[in-house]
Amino acid sequence: MAYAAGVDVGSTQTKAIVIDEAGRIVGRALTDTGANVIAAAQEAFGIALRDGKVREEEVDYVIGTGYGRYKVTFGNAQVTEISCHARGAVHMFPKTRTVLDMGGQDTKAIRVGAHGEIGDFCMNDKCAAGTGRFLGAASSALEIPLGDLGPTALRAERAVKISTTCTVFAESEILSWLGKGRKVEDILLGVHQSIASRSIGLLRRVGIEPEVTFTGGVARNVGMIQTLEQALGMKLNVSPDSHYIGALGAALFSLDHIRASRAPARAGGKA
Ligand SMILES: Nc1ncnc2c1ncn2[C@@H]1O[C@H](COP(=O)(O)OP(=O)(O)OP(=O)(O)O)[C@@H](O)[C@H]1O
Ligand SMILES: [Mg+2]
Repeated sequence: MAYAAGVDVGSTQTKAIVIDEAGRIVGRALTDTGANVIAAAQEAFGIALRDGKVREEEVDYVIGTGYGRYKVTFGNAQVTEISCHARGAVHMFPKTRTVLDMGGQDTKAIRVGAHGEIGDFCMNDKCAAGTGRFLGAASSALEIPLGDLGPTALRAERAVKISTTCTVFAESEILSWLGKGRKVEDILLGVHQSIASRSIGLLRRVGIEPEVTFTGGVARNVGMIQTLEQALGMKLNVSPDSHYIGALGAALFSLDHIRASRAPARAGGKA
């Protein structure tokens, strides 16, 4: 049995996926990228192998993706995260035509065709206001773990309107609302709404065609899912493996390579 793998070294977290020849996920890993990016890639790959009870020699091809894709020193090739998120999203939800990837630093909107080919894409510019970093700022200002932000926001009664569009000033605005006696949940719903409206701006630039698949770590946040769905007026495709979709796409490209290298060469080059 041969296996294929993908390692998505993101700015914040590193994800690794091992798939079997049928394209089924057999092992997954999630680690913080941290300062030593090469080590993070190795660690994630090792955890995914152990998770899938797969030996390294059984993995025929590994593709690196994400901002640190060239740090996957044991990898065979690199593919951009735009292509990998699109490929993974269409594999998981075949009717996907639009992908929203919300990661730790960047948010990307991608239009895709039926086979995962990229139509158009756009990304937040230098500003991190519509990304996971804004949630990170809220998490540290309010001293609430990242995983609790969404569920807390959903308990809100009246959202606070967050006016700052800059992550650098978000913390002080959040603290000033707290100082004015506003409830944590109302502030947090406001934070989610502000991020949602920025992301929807990106989606509009590529065109919002259903189905829309939500990928990246922020897709684990139930508050973000609900806020986006409400603002868009449609359901989003989300899976417990949404965080791994970029790594899954990379693993699927690895599998393509394995299959292509096995295909018998065409005799004589005739059409
Ligand atoms: N359990 C969780 N609950 C809620 N949010 C989470 C959880 N785990 C991670 N996140 C969010 O996901 C973000 C990381 O997502 P992801 O791994 O997709 O980013 P990345 O690929 O490292 O970044 P980028 O794509 O911007 O380079 C975190 O910053 C956090 O906001
Ligand atoms: Mg990413």
